[in-house]
Amino acid sequence: KANEKESLYLVSEFASEYFKNILHKTDQGKSIGLSYFKERGFTEETIKKFDLGYSLNEWRAFTDEALKKGYNIDYLAKTGLTIVKEDKRFDRFKGRVMFPIKSMSGRVLGFGGRILITDKKAAKYVNSPESEIYYKSKVLYGIHLAKQSIAKEDNCFLVEGYTDVIQFHQTGVHNVVSSSGTALTSEQIRLINRLTKNITVLFDGDAAGMRASLRGIDLILEQGMNVRVCTFPEGEDPDSFAKQNTLEELGTYLNENAKDFIQFKASVLFEDSKNDPIKKAETVRDIIMSISKIPDRIKQEIYIQECARIMDISEEVLFTTLAQLDKKET
Ligand code: CTP
Ligand code: MN
Ligand code: MN
Ligand code: MN
Ligand code: MN
Repeated sequence: KANEKESLYLVSEFASEYFKNILHKTDQGKSIGLSYFKERGFTEETIKKFDLGYSLNEWRAFTDEALKKGYNIDYLAKTGLTIVKEDKRFDRFKGRVMFPIKSMSGRVLGFGGRILITDKKAAKYVNSPESEIYYKSKVLYGIHLAKQSIAKEDNCFLVEGYTDVIQFHQTGVHNVVSSSGTALTSEQIRLINRLTKNITVLFDGDAAGMRASLRGIDLILEQGMNVRVCTFPEGEDPDSFAKQNTLEELGTYLNENAKDFIQFKASVLFEDSKNDPIKKAETVRDIIMSISKIPDRIKQEIYIQECARIMDISEEVLFTTLAQLDKKET
C-alpha cells in the first residue's frame, strides 16, 4: 500500500512536469496557456513559483506520453489523470491551464484545470477526483509556500480560489491558503491550527462568499482559534482586488476592513435594520450560538461583553442565553 501511494505521487509529479513543459515549450502552450496567464497579470516568476501548466486540447496527449514513459495505466486511472471507460482511455484535462495542488511538504496531490473561456457549457474548473493521496477535505492550496509566513506573521489569510492565492503572493502577501471550492472543513482548519491560532477569512464579494464566510466562522471558533473576516467590494475577489492595488494599499485595506466575528455578523445580519426588533433578536441569537462554540470561558466572557456593547443589550440576558445553549448541548 505504501508502494502504491508512492506510485501515485510519482505519476502526479510526472504530470505536473509534463503540463509545465507544454506551457513553456510548445506553440499551443505558449500561444494559449502562457498568454492567458500573462493576460491575467501573472509574471513569469509567479507562473514558475506555482508550477503552472497547460494541458493540450487533444483526447489523449498526456495519457499516451505517460504510457510511453512506462507509467502504469492503473495509477493513471487512480489519480484520475486518465479516464478509463471500457476499452477507451482519455485525458481528464484537455485545453485547460493547470494548477498543481500540493501537500504541506510540496508533493503533487492533484490538479485543478481552468477552461480559458468561460461559457455555460463546460465547468470553469475541472479538478482531480479524490484518490489515495488526495483527500480534498484535508488539503489547502498553497500551504507549502505559505507555512513559514503563516507562522512568522502569526496569521493565515483564507481565500476561496487558486488565483487568489497566486495573486496575493505576487503582490507580496505569502501567508495565504485556499480551500479551493470545497466547503471549508475542520481538517483544513486543523492544518492551519498547527501554524497559527489566527485566521482571517477573505471570501469573494458575492452572496456565495458571504454565506461561506458565515459557515466558516463556527468551525474556526470550535478549535479555539480566533477568526476575523474581511469582505471585498461587490464583484471583487482577493485576486481582482490585489491586482488593482499595491502591497501597501492591500495591507491598509485588510487592516481597516477586517472585523472580528461579532462585528462581522452584526454588520451582515443586522445591517441597517437597527429598528427591527425581530431581526435584532435573531442576530443576537446567532452571535451567541457562535460564542457557545468557543472552548475558552474567558474568551466567551469577553465576546459576550463585546456583543452586549455592539447590539446594545444587557450582558445578563446574553449570559443566560449562553447557559441555556450549553445545557441543551450536554
Ligand atoms: N471551483 C471549482 N469548480 C468550479 C468553480 C470553482 O472547483 N466549477 C473552485 C476553484 O478552486 C476556484 C474556487 O472554487 O478557484 C473559487 O471559485 P471562483 O471564485 O468561481 O473562481 P476564481 O478562483 O475566482 O477563478 P477565476 O478568477 O479564474 O474565475
Ligand atoms: Mn513574493
Ligand atoms: Mn466565487
Ligand atoms: Mn473568485
Ligand atoms: Mn477570481
